Amino acid sequence: MPGAEPIARQRRESAKTVRLRHQLLQWYALSKRDLPWRRNADPYSIWVSEIMLQQTRVAVVVDRYQTFLARFPTLVSLAEAPEQDVLALWSGLGYYRRARMLHKAAKFVVQQLDGLLPTKAEALRTLPGIGAYTAAAIASIAYGEVVAVVDGNVERVLCRLEGWAAGNRVGETALKRKIDELAAQLIHPVHPGDFNQALMELGATVCLPRNPMCLVCPVATDCETQGEHKTVPRPRMQSREVAHALSVRTGRRPNRSGLEVLLEQRPASLTVMPGLWELPALKNTIVAQKDLLMTLRHAIMQVNYYVRIRNVHEDAVEAITVAAGERRWVPVNEVAAMALTGLARKVLTRAHLLAAIPRAPIAQ
Ligand code: ADE
Repeated sequence: MPGAEPIARQRRESAKTVRLRHQLLQWYALSKRDLPWRRNADPYSIWVSEIMLQQTRVAVVVDRYQTFLARFPTLVSLAEAPEQDVLALWSGLGYYRRARMLHKAAKFVVQQLDGLLPTKAEALRTLPGIGAYTAAAIASIAYGEVVAVVDGNVERVLCRLEGWAAGNRVGETALKRKIDELAAQLIHPVHPGDFNQALMELGATVCLPRNPMCLVCPVATDCETQGEHKTVPRPRMQSREVAHALSVRTGRRPNRSGLEVLLEQRPASLTVMPGLWELPALKNTIVAQKDLLMTLRHAIMQVNYYVRIRNVHEDAVEAITVAAGERRWVPVNEVAAMALTGLARKVLTRAHLLAAIPRAPIAQ
């Protein structure tokens, strides 16, 4: 009978959709990680968590999130804070542009929207730093809007469920459209926030990029791939060599005789990490063995930086470093509260010159 096959197929597909939603939600209820931002439905704290979770591992976010919210518990408190305080609390999370945008958006909401965060994804998207993904996450999790969240984890889960190979550059846009359409079709009409989080959670904990755990996957029976799917090779990492000076002296001021370290602020005009504090850069990246304090690798995006740290006496520092911004001798007990670059934080920690930032008590 003409037309019978598509209708039967539709029925079968919708039964599959209903089953998938049910199995995924049931699995999520039993297996979800106990993460601090899942303990309340406050839109502001969900917003903070979603911004932090972009490009940063969950374990790092758990730690920084609680400290950040202890210092800025409300949207108003964040909006009223000086930018350097916000950046300092963002330390360790990297990609500081996210913190600047979050701060800017908080100020906008307080000044222009009477402190009320928009409730719909479309309106949230107009705020600085909130793209399609973050808007959908906040709107669905905090306000129950039926809008699909598609991050990298969700893309992988859906590609595997359908047996789609990841697109090359030519097919990328078409594949992305198919994934978005499928996500919109699958989303649970009554529990959109939990459904979105369940798909992300499945990608983060079970449907892993390599060695996915199909034996414990709640939707394996409906999965066309049951394992790893075909992906586009990652771009190769580039490497660069840099060197920085670690210069430490005894404090000069009468009541401040502890150690001080020389830091330099990156100019505000830079596009990369403006305003953050770092160790002065050396003119010469080659460091003699006798002056070498440590060597480390620091990855930023597609670049591996091979970093040499030279021990420099304060009298020599001007001659052998590149003066790029304002310099300051900072007492070591004040360094942790500054907005440091990730590399500076790493070096100072390894040199035992950085006390850990006090962690917020874990909320019950
Ligand atoms: N990744 C980003 N946001 C997430 C969330 N709310 N749940 C699980 N994984 C996430």
